[in-house]
Amino acid sequence: MDTLDSTPKTPSDTVRTLSPLPGPADFAEYYAPPEQGRHLRANMVASLDGAAQLAGLAGGLGNPADRFLFSLLRGFADVVIVGAGTVRAEGYGPVPPDESWEGLREGLPPVPPLAIVTRTLDLDFDAPVFTEAVAPTIVLAPGGAPPERLRAAREHAEVITAGEATLDFAAAVAELEARGHRRMLCEGGPSVLSGFVAAGLLDELCLTLSPLLLAGAAKRILNGPPLPDPDELELAHALQDDGFLFLRYTRSR
Ligand SMILES: NC(=O)c1ccc[n+]([C@@H]2O[C@H](COP(=O)([O-])OP(=O)(O)OC[C@H]3O[C@@H](n4cnc5c(N)ncnc54)[C@H](OP(=O)(O)O)[C@@H]3O)[C@@H](O)[C@H]2O)c1
Repeated sequence: MDTLDSTPKTPSDTVRTLSPLPGPADFAEYYAPPEQGRHLRANMVASLDGAAQLAGLAGGLGNPADRFLFSLLRGFADVVIVGAGTVRAEGYGPVPPDESWEGLREGLPPVPPLAIVTRTLDLDFDAPVFTEAVAPTIVLAPGGAPPERLRAAREHAEVITAGEATLDFAAAVAELEARGHRRMLCEGGPSVLSGFVAAGLLDELCLTLSPLLLAGAAKRILNGPPLPDPDELELAHALQDDGFLFLRYTRSR
């Protein structure tokens, strides 16, 4: 039984202050991805009480620095993966080029394609996300998806099937890598991110912590069944801007 005597002492040899920060930080330096190997990073924003949605969207949780980082991370990516739920909720278009990308995409296509994860293929193939994409949008779906929707998707997008009833995330990632997409950025949403984490594929989580307390029934950044063997991540850095924390965690095992 625990007694007061067994209460851990303050671990002063490991606890450190992070703030005030010693000086200005350049996001482009702090978020450069590894130069080699497949790398799957997620970028998410949450309120202090863990909400990943504000009025049904993620955008209201961020600030200008978060929006800058959102675009910068796209500039570092070979492909941007997003769930169909987020495409529908946020009205996603194709990835636009950004002036913050100067020098980031030498030897790469000007913009990374979007890769949309879907089971139903309940997507509007006449929407700009398909019709105006400079880099053709990719659809990631299970092979058992409705055949007529798969046919329609193939007319408007590059389609990768993996798994049968539900997307096999590992096989989908392997297919993307085989097509030269080494640096993968997942922008959520919570269901899709949960799938990547459950499959043991996530290498890095970039989490913006927004200084808001929201309560309510918003989703968290992961929405899926409990993970029997939870990943423990290592803190790579913590930056701050105007009360927002920019946390970068990497996989420790
Ligand atoms: N805070 C943040 O950083 C952040 C980031 C992104 C999104 N969000 C918010 O999250 C909300 C959307 O959440 P969400 O979880 O519904 O969206 P989501 O993860 O973007 O998309 C869910 C959809 O992805 C497809 N999907 C998921 N798992 C699949 C699997 N195993 N196999 C095949 N398809 C699969 C399904 O698409 P189909 O229904 O087409 O079959 C499913 O309905 C929005 O409010 C959005 O604003 C927040």
